[in-house]
Amino acid sequence: MIAIGCDHGGFNLKNAIMKKLEEMGYDYKDFGTYSTDSCDYPDIAKEVCKAITSSECDKGILVCGTGIGMSMAANKVKGIRAAHVTDTFSARMTKEHNDANVICLGERITGIEIALEIVEAYLNATFQGGRHANRVAKIED
Ligand code: RB5
Repeated sequence: MIAIGCDHGGFNLKNAIMKKLEEMGYDYKDFGTYSTDSCDYPDIAKEVCKAITSSECDKGILVCGTGIGMSMAANKVKGIRAAHVTDTFSARMTKEHNDANVICLGERITGIEIALEIVEAYLNATFQGGRHANRVAKIED
């Protein structure tokens, strides 16, 4: 189950991503926000991250205007490894090497079609373990 959330700056991209997830056959849970009315991105990041650390969901997608605020907020939560990504290579690598359990996107930065390819690249990637597991464990420490 994928947890997804956005603030007002990421509302349109979140909708496009949810449509893509449905087409790809992924289950997701939408943690809002549900309109373009202004809200605070840390509140949404907190709910999405809580869903992951409680094991209700196994990964998350956060969208704001830049993706930066969401990634800052998400990375404050123990157990969350959030990657702010703007290209498909990074999206794949952050799963393969960093075992990122959240990706953060910026609706005002990344065009919708690229963003959807980023989501696909992330979801299709697999953590490689091995030497990377040791490094990820050090992040958690
Ligand atoms: C909201 O205006 C904007 O600050 C937010 O979406 C995000 O870009 C923060 O990092």
